[in-house]
Amino acid sequence: MNDIRPLRESDKDDILEIARHTWEGHDYIPYYFDTWLKDKNSYPVGVEYDGHIIALANLRVIDDGKTGWMEALRVHPNHRGKGLATSLTQYVVQLAKSIPVKCIRYTTSVGNETSLHLAEVVGMKRKFDLAVHWQENPSEISWRMRGFPLLEVSADEVCQDLIDANLIPFNILIHDWKAFDVTPKGLNKIGSTARFWVQTRAGKLTSFSLGFARDVSSGMQWSFTIYASDRTGFLDHLSYHIDIASKSGCTSIFVAFETDYVETMHNLDWVQLDENEDEEWALTLLERML
Ligand SMILES: CC(C)(COP(=O)(O)OP(=O)(O)OC[C@H]1O[C@@H](n2cnc3c(N)ncnc32)[C@H](O)[C@@H]1OP(=O)(O)O)[C@@H](O)C(=O)NCCC(=O)NCCS
Repeated sequence: MNDIRPLRESDKDDILEIARHTWEGHDYIPYYFDTWLKDKNSYPVGVEYDGHIIALANLRVIDDGKTGWMEALRVHPNHRGKGLATSLTQYVVQLAKSIPVKCIRYTTSVGNETSLHLAEVVGMKRKFDLAVHWQENPSEISWRMRGFPLLEVSADEVCQDLIDANLIPFNILIHDWKAFDVTPKGLNKIGSTARFWVQTRAGKLTSFSLGFARDVSSGMQWSFTIYASDRTGFLDHLSYHIDIASKSGCTSIFVAFETDYVETMHNLDWVQLDENEDEEWALTLLERML
């Protein structure tokens, strides 16, 4: 019989076993499981079958209690296709309602049809998409823009300007596949792992980006997100981040950016698109108000 229950320390071996079978072993769950157990805002749950956890998900309460962030939905390959992800997703939505939070959200790749279908089943809607691009060896990219300078700023310095500039769709920032409201708290949270840059013209903020180095199996990856009011601003930030990635010895870049700039990006001669990546490759934010 399947039983959904909170996860505990003794489930760790089962969780690691599921992670070994997810994304060819490159799953991030082993790095987060202990943190979830200690975090009073995290609600990790799993499906127990025959004394073992065979599926899991985590609900994390963020944005000062407003948002239930849904993450880490996994089903062991031997148990897929039996409705476990559907049951867990429905369970997590009820959990979010009971806390209660005002809305539930998660991001996924637009190519993850199961994930999109599950969102639909629990009444979540696509709020916006951001294009994404991944590429190896940034040190081989010699292309640079000689545009307007970028200024590095702190979370506290940039918050109000960012809201006034009306630059971020829905005032929701995407950082590391997660969504953060543009508030002092949200920006400070991002700022604990990432750095911020802006461009201003005539005293007005016209473009913004954030970036951080992430440890991935192939080395360090420079991961960044760009928001710009025009193409020049977008290219200036892109160039700047490639320079950082290159000089800091990162072996790959991962960039998220507004879909308006997909054509601009794909027209750059150094951009390599693999066969799985076309103009549709993007992440999407799913949301439901409760
Ligand atoms: C994604 C995952 C969690 C699904 O687990 P699962 O237990 O096999 O899912 P379910 O059996 O509950 O089925 C999910 C639903 O998606 C549907 N589905 C599956 N593939 C689909 C596709 N290509 N297009 C549309 N719907 C699809 C199924 O038909 C089912 O819907 P239904 O019950 O209405 O028919 C599992 O494959 C997994 O762990 N994958 C690796 C990690 C991952 O991608 N996690 C999610 C994003 S973080």
